[in-house]
Amino acid sequence: MLLPQAFISAFLFLLPAASGSFPEVYGMGGDPVTLPCSYPESRVLSFVCWSRGECASDSCGQTLVWTDGNRINYQTSSRYQINPKLRQGNASLTIEYAYESDSGLYCCRVEMKGWDGVQTLTTSLQVQPGSNSSRTKGLAIGISIFLLLLVLVSGLVITNYILMKKRPGSPSLVALFVSKVRTLLNKEVA
Ligand SMILES: *[C@@H]1O[C@H](CO)[C@@H](O)[C@H](O)[C@H]1NC(C)=O
Repeated sequence: MLLPQAFISAFLFLLPAASGSFPEVYGMGGDPVTLPCSYPESRVLSFVCWSRGECASDSCGQTLVWTDGNRINYQTSSRYQINPKLRQGNASLTIEYAYESDSGLYCCRVEMKGWDGVQTLTTSLQVQPGSNSSRTKGLAIGISIFLLLLVLVSGLVITNYILMKKRPGSPSLVALFVSKVRTLLNKEVA
């Protein structure tokens, strides 16, 4: 029982350290998020590819978008947009509608003409739950409060029922409660 726990906490401990070595970008679920990537404007572009995972030394890897600078040659989803000013040194990738599952490492690989023409940049993206899931959270809290009130009221009614059965003629708790609330409300109004 203890071993997996120790393993998990060790893993959680190592996780930030592992992703901390790359520049980080934070986004919100449902919003667009831009991963920056640039190259010297003076260089002539061969192509740019964006992929999932850490940059490999020799290839694009699991490619999301591939462009030669004139048009998008390959794209796995229309959510992935390359900056239209790509030829002016800005090779940023915008994810139009970010999901939490988009979190992870991304590689920007720029190949330029010339012998030293390869440039790579790995970025870590963290997408936080967006407004949709906070709405769900609000609903969950609302339902919890409703259930808690239901339990309290039914507890009161049941206690009242038991008391009435044991000692008939004693004042009803519900009636007491209602009159208390009424006096409180009256005070509020006055
Ligand atoms: C590059 O383009 C993105 C939009 O695609 C923009 O948000 C960003 O500011 C630009 N970066 C620079 C250095 O101009």
